[in-house]
Amino acid sequence: MGDDIKMAGQPLSRVDGKLKVTGAAKYAAEYIIPNLAYGVLASGAIARGRIKSIDTAAAEKAPGVIAIITHLNAPKPPGYFGGKESSDPRTEGGEYRVFYNDVILYSGQPVALAIADTFERARYAASLVKVQYVKEPPQTDMLSNMDKAVVPKESDPDYNRGDKNAFDNAAFTFEQEYQTQLQVHNPMEPHAAIAVWEGADAITVYNKTQSSPIAQEDIAKAWKLQKENVHIVSKFVGGAFGGASRVWPEEMAATIGAKKIGRPLKVVFNRDQLFNMVGYRPQSLQKIKLGADKDGKLIGIHHEAYGNTSTYEQFTANMTSLTQALYACDNVSTLYRLVPLDVSTPCWTRAPGEAPGSFALESALDELSYTLKIDPLELRKRNYAAQNPDTKQPWSTKFLNECYERGAAQFGWEKRNPQPRSTTNGNWLIGYGMATGIYGAWRAPSSARAVLNSDGTLVVQSATADVGVGTATIMSQIAADATGIPVEKIKFELGDSRLPPAIGQFGSLTTTSVGSAVNDACVALRQKAIEYLKKSQSSLQNTPVENFAFGDGKIKTKDDAVSISYADLLQQQHLPSIEVTVDSKGSEEADKYSSYSYNATFVEVGVHALTNQLKVNRVVSAIDAGKIMNKKTARSQVYGSVTWGIGMALTEESVIDDRYGRWMVKDLADYHVPVNADIPAIEVLFIDKSDDILTPIGAKGLGEIGIVGVAAAIANAVYHATGKRVRDLPITPDKLV
Ligand code: MOS
Repeated sequence: MGDDIKMAGQPLSRVDGKLKVTGAAKYAAEYIIPNLAYGVLASGAIARGRIKSIDTAAAEKAPGVIAIITHLNAPKPPGYFGGKESSDPRTEGGEYRVFYNDVILYSGQPVALAIADTFERARYAASLVKVQYVKEPPQTDMLSNMDKAVVPKESDPDYNRGDKNAFDNAAFTFEQEYQTQLQVHNPMEPHAAIAVWEGADAITVYNKTQSSPIAQEDIAKAWKLQKENVHIVSKFVGGAFGGASRVWPEEMAATIGAKKIGRPLKVVFNRDQLFNMVGYRPQSLQKIKLGADKDGKLIGIHHEAYGNTSTYEQFTANMTSLTQALYACDNVSTLYRLVPLDVSTPCWTRAPGEAPGSFALESALDELSYTLKIDPLELRKRNYAAQNPDTKQPWSTKFLNECYERGAAQFGWEKRNPQPRSTTNGNWLIGYGMATGIYGAWRAPSSARAVLNSDGTLVVQSATADVGVGTATIMSQIAADATGIPVEKIKFELGDSRLPPAIGQFGSLTTTSVGSAVNDACVALRQKAIEYLKKSQSSLQNTPVENFAFGDGKIKTKDDAVSISYADLLQQQHLPSIEVTVDSKGSEEADKYSSYSYNATFVEVGVHALTNQLKVNRVVSAIDAGKIMNKKTARSQVYGSVTWGIGMALTEESVIDDRYGRWMVKDLADYHVPVNADIPAIEVLFIDKSDDILTPIGAKGLGEIGIVGVAAAIANAVYHATGKRVRDLPITPDKLV
């Protein structure tokens, strides 16, 4: 490959694709550990109260059983809740309270761990554990507990700019409520952990995590261990979406159980345990008020959002943040509250605040467009924010107008008849809808190490993760561009807490943060190589670094006077390897700017006039995420995001029976994720322009932007098709009657 052809951006297939499709990629539960025992958690049957008694006699006598662990006999991690002694597991929050005491805080909470010599025997033993409870009536219905709403402790929940009474001067005002329901991550790979104690003070945990450094820190804290004595291994993750970004009961149960039996122990969750033991997207109720003049200029926006949390811990995902930054409007106020319920704690779920928040805001904009008789796309353009309307900072880059233009052209938006219920195709009512998406772009401090070997191969390492999106692939591409070493000679290692610390895979942060660190490490490495070269060739002594070029595994002078392969250089210098580790973070210059990724999503739906069957016929997703590092893996990311947006809009919800506080929808038969037949052609357009202020590689972050606005675009298209506005997701056919 010539040095003018850049690897970044190329649609390279996954470097670890073969490992995955041949089954050679090892997921958390697949490690072969000598003397391994198997643990299965027994889930509690009530949503609130206490354990009166537990009868484990039958379980203990079952074949192959090694131990039955309950709160009565479990070793207690000394650092539970920072080591504070308390009978109330709510003291400090955190999920590490498995087997802490007899208090039941949510339905399905683990009450016992059955450990046996095989998984099947452990599962059978778990079924024999008999628990008596003291029941208390649970509160799990958010809407009937709104009076208990609290101000979130951690985030900045209230926001105001301009004049709260600006609505008085608006020619048009609009006010509505929107709702979204519980959604569950449902990755293919269940959460799993294998805990292997090495003496009393050191442990290795093979687990499913989006961040080995976070898992390391959490487990070290819980057991009061030196951080470096906790080794986390998580090389492959079979989907996560936020649900594996903290330590959950499977890790803690595995460490507790392994401690008890003095043997390595594996704990894997069943599908139903994934519904409420490892977080979910909380329910939301949102209120939007808009004020506009007759030309559609926004005069005021008020956005209020309520989400559920558990009684013992606050989970925040502010649904109103996007409203502060998306549109040019002088007068904006937002408010965010949490409603504590007798449920397990929710967790980050792909575009945590933005996905539900955009459903409310972007539905409301659409409603306003009909009131004003202004095209919905035009209404958004008239309120385009040329700078951050909150901080007044310039954008590092913003190509949302290009998303609007290119998306609309590709979709054929101009063909849309503005009249609702005006377009049909046989028995199908056809609707066009659109929405805007926005998601913050950040760069978090991260480290990377680059090791150049004397055979010309390059190993790059960082403790980040890959939940399946192709981290190693794009990191190899970035390293290839920075060093001129062909991608086939590069190996990227991740998913291990012993590697240089880095941000995990969440918040759309991996490419911006770790990608930048990889770039910086490789640039530093090639400079080190140049120094060796300059020392070895006196003619180059005064040649400035920028007069060198890199390609085909070689360092060259730009005038081609000298060219030497990395391998030859190291061999000549008798160097087995050279290596560089860098800590990389955003520039001070970047702090002067405001950075977001954007999308414009255009959707065509068909609603059957007789049955209300609803189909998404077409989606065009135009995305500004800075420079796209790999068009193939990036496209797949957006397919996944849009697919989940369709699920959020049309099919996905979990339902709790509030009489018992129990989840009724907790398997993939009842929780309807879209299948292939539900998903139309998704056309993805990347604006693909570098953001050179945010990152040295030009990326802004892509993991979550694709889902933001999708549910609103669909709801807006459904309104256009039918004249019926559904403000409560999912839009099931009964809501169109
Ligand atoms: Mo994502 S919800 O930041 O894993």
